[in-house]
Amino acid sequence: MSADLPLVLGLETSCDETGVGIVRGEELLVDAIASSVDEHARFGGVVPEVASRAHLEAMVPTLERATREAGVRLDDLDAIAVTSGPGLAGALMVGVAAAKALAVALGKPLYGVNHLASHVAVDIVEHGPLPEPTLAMLVSGGHSSLLLVPDVTHDVRSLGSTIDDAAGEAFDKVARVLGLPFPGGPHIDRAAREGDRVAIDFPRGLTAGRDMDRHRFDFSFSGLKTAVSRWVQAREAAGEPVPVADVAASFQEAVTDVLTRKAVLACREHGVENLQIGGGVAANSRLRAMAQERCDAAGIKLRVPRPGLCTDNGAMVAALGAQMVLKGRAPSDLSLPADSSMPVTLVQS
Ligand code: KG4
Ligand code: ZN
Repeated sequence: MSADLPLVLGLETSCDETGVGIVRGEELLVDAIASSVDEHARFGGVVPEVASRAHLEAMVPTLERATREAGVRLDDLDAIAVTSGPGLAGALMVGVAAAKALAVALGKPLYGVNHLASHVAVDIVEHGPLPEPTLAMLVSGGHSSLLLVPDVTHDVRSLGSTIDDAAGEAFDKVARVLGLPFPGGPHIDRAAREGDRVAIDFPRGLTAGRDMDRHRFDFSFSGLKTAVSRWVQAREAAGEPVPVADVAASFQEAVTDVLTRKAVLACREHGVENLQIGGGVAANSRLRAMAQERCDAAGIKLRVPRPGLCTDNGAMVAALGAQMVLKGRAPSDLSLPADSSMPVTLVQS
């Protein structure tokens, strides 16, 4: 039975993770990752050239590890999927070139897919078929989007997105202000556990008055970041210690409050009963808990993949590729580009 289901390899290189995943139908066989995050830490952010070089070095060993662990031969694959965008141009190019080389050498169909749609599709290997439609909230270092997803293989609609910093970017910048290492999200998450969420009333961007008319499902985190920074500077100027745990908890509360409030509102107004959260920030423990509480109260079913599948990985690309094959979508042309600014509404290139 399972031998009839498509065996799909997924390559992900849009940022600092070299991900190679293999999926059979809707079952995850392996999720191999090599990360260059440690090489970026001292710069306080991902350095594109360093990331591209690291992808080049990691691609073949990660591919070998994935096939070995899954007990799969490249010849057995039914299709190859790759993130064709959005992301860092040079980094994307490594994955796209590798995928094209594999597709040509093995004579297999190639699917160039959208990184954001892949963050949505990954939940299929975790929790089964995606309800149609699903409301998806993607919160990562590069994106914060609310998407209406009637069909993840070809119909993804944008309801709103950040007008300045992405949610993960705000976590990373606030972590820096607090002297915590990069990437800051997990460190803020940890510090916040010891802190008081209501210690400081930080602003909730784009949630009131006319902003809700003009930017109903958009986000803004730059004002929040500045507010945290000013608050910390004022304490330091007064010669008082900075209560890192309280600042982390109060900041995290502001971000998760806005994200979950807008996601639930979008579900209500679009008559959607299923919310899925993905992207690196979906690993945040407070976001997961608050989303669950608010979805329960609103009668919405919440799906969030395990933290390891929320951050960038190859399994998500393989998962979307397998859906493409299952739904009979035509493969991409071998000339497909690495498209650093691929729009979220374009699932396949
Ligand atoms: O999806 P991802 O791995 O890469 C991008 O496509 O950006 O997301 C990385 C982002 C970083 O900004 C990181 O700080 C954030 O996800 N992140 C978290 C947590 N784990 C990762 N943010 C908040 N809480 C976490 N536990
Ligand atoms: Zn991502």
